Amino acid sequence: MTERPVPESKGRAFFVGVSFLLKSETLFGGANKFDCGRNVLLISKFMNWTIYTEAEKLVEDEAIFAIVARALGEDWTTKSSHQLRIGRQPEKDLSLVAFIDGKLVATVRLWSILAGNAGEALLLGPLAVEPYLHGKGLGQAMLKRVIELAKEKGHGAIVLVGDAPYYERVGFSSKPTWMMRMPGRYDQNRLLGLELIPGYLEGHDGVITR
Ligand SMILES: CC(C)(COP(=O)(O)OP(=O)(O)OC[C@H]1O[C@@H](n2cnc3c(N)ncnc32)[C@H](O)[C@@H]1OP(=O)(O)O)[C@@H](O)C(=O)NCCC(=O)NCCS
Repeated sequence: MTERPVPESKGRAFFVGVSFLLKSETLFGGANKFDCGRNVLLISKFMNWTIYTEAEKLVEDEAIFAIVARALGEDWTTKSSHQLRIGRQPEKDLSLVAFIDGKLVATVRLWSILAGNAGEALLLGPLAVEPYLHGKGLGQAMLKRVIELAKEKGHGAIVLVGDAPYYERVGFSSKPTWMMRMPGRYDQNRLLGLELIPGYLEGHDGVITR
């Protein structure tokens, strides 16, 4: 379990400084409960997230699927990488869930796969953060933790299909997977790999399978 506050430096981590020079009844239906006799009201809530593995914290698939659908859209199951996940369980001691105030807010899952003739590796996905929390560093925190855990457990590499500019921030690149192929339709530029053991994917090709 890891705990991390939303970084203060981002400035978006706080519901801060809501300055109501407006009359509060405009916003709160006349209840006036936020009118403390001042014309500036500060509402501040510091958000802490806690990240658990799915082995530590049991979460129903349905709750995870709901976040993924809100973040990625209802068609998320049509993605090529999803075909490698159907009917299977993720690696629960590597897959992560994040909570804020007891509410599930983010998920990232890792799956055991075969990366062509490189052999055993992990497939990452889906990674999803509740849309109202986007841009607060939680996605990157989840990725860093999942990579750290996979490395600690001795895995050789992680592959995924996703947006290179985002995943490059934590070391993924299309280079190690350039000679590999995914089943189904996908964009080769979005097939990314991260070697946890240096050279693990190097010189290998073949199809990524379950
Ligand atoms: C992608 C996602 C997991 C990122 O989580 P997050 O908690 O919002 O991300 P972080 O706060 O850690 O990082 C935000 C940074 O990543 C950038 N970023 C977010 N999504 C990006 C993307 N798809 N491509 C490139 N950069 C992206 C943001 O612009 C921001 O940049 P900044 O730090 O320079 O301001 C989240 O936005 C999400 O669930 N999106 C819906 C699914 C999706 O779009 N997936 C695409 C990736 S395959």
